Amino acid sequence: MIRKAVLPVAGFGTRCLPASKAIPKEMITIVDRPVIQYVVEEAIAAGIREIVLVTSSHKSAIENHFDTNAELEDSLEAKGKHELLAMLRNLVPDDVSIISIRQGKPLGLGHAVLCARPIIGDGEPFAVLLPDVLVDNSANQTSDLVGMLTAFDKHKTAQLMVEAVDWENVVKYGIVAPSGEAPAPEESAELSGMVEKPTREAAPSNLAVIGRYALPGSIFSILESTAPGAGGEIQLTDALETLREQSGVQAYCMQGATYDCGHPLGYLEATLAFARRHSEFGEAFQALLSRYYQGV
Ligand code: G1P
Repeated sequence: MIRKAVLPVAGFGTRCLPASKAIPKEMITIVDRPVIQYVVEEAIAAGIREIVLVTSSHKSAIENHFDTNAELEDSLEAKGKHELLAMLRNLVPDDVSIISIRQGKPLGLGHAVLCARPIIGDGEPFAVLLPDVLVDNSANQTSDLVGMLTAFDKHKTAQLMVEAVDWENVVKYGIVAPSGEAPAPEESAELSGMVEKPTREAAPSNLAVIGRYALPGSIFSILESTAPGAGGEIQLTDALETLREQSGVQAYCMQGATYDCGHPLGYLEATLAFARRHSEFGEAFQALLSRYYQGV
């Protein structure tokens, strides 16, 4: 099973300004923890043990969040706040390492993934999780990430997690073309192509890549020779299209819900979804919700 994951977090987050002016967009809070923590928890729960953050100079808050804060821990210890201390110390299990590497220039998602090559190496498969999207499997028996990583093992083929989106939204995503039937939930299907942010007219389907990938190490050499594409950036989608021609790529159809936390409305929806079932605040939050709903 795949044990390594790359989380590209170097982008400016312009869609979240002014919230993301002085803090990384990945550090914006959903209920009681930053967005990035949900994604790291998702990866860890799926068996990932080595997480590579591809970061940039204005993103050190993310590295600090997962590092030990000795001063804070000493202060909590001295005040006897043992529960808080234990929570902080267990943010990342001992057998999980979080490593960061810089993407000096914003040359695109494909370039960001390529920056992780010296740590991941070409010899083994790895996952990519884009922290803009939160995956919510609370209503499901299993995690979509586990399903996708299992599908990679079973089919020995790269997997892109997809969900059907409204046709007017295809322009925001990488869109896939299944070579036969579209995959059923929790199933994979071979692709005949994929295209980055097509117009509605040009889109081969409404199945959108939601930012979870299981990739072979060979993607690095493909990325290395991928020319800049849309927006003058090195696009992961272009490299995936080359990989598809060489050895096939499959779409894995997710069953859970997604929240686009690269956008304020997505944060709001994620906040509603996670707050109403929060172990500590859930009940009070639901009471708040009904109060506001009734306009009281
Ligand atoms: C990236 C990918 C795109 C994918 C999307 C998911 O785009 O390039 O294929 O569908 O993430 O969020 P971005 O949103 O970074 O422009």
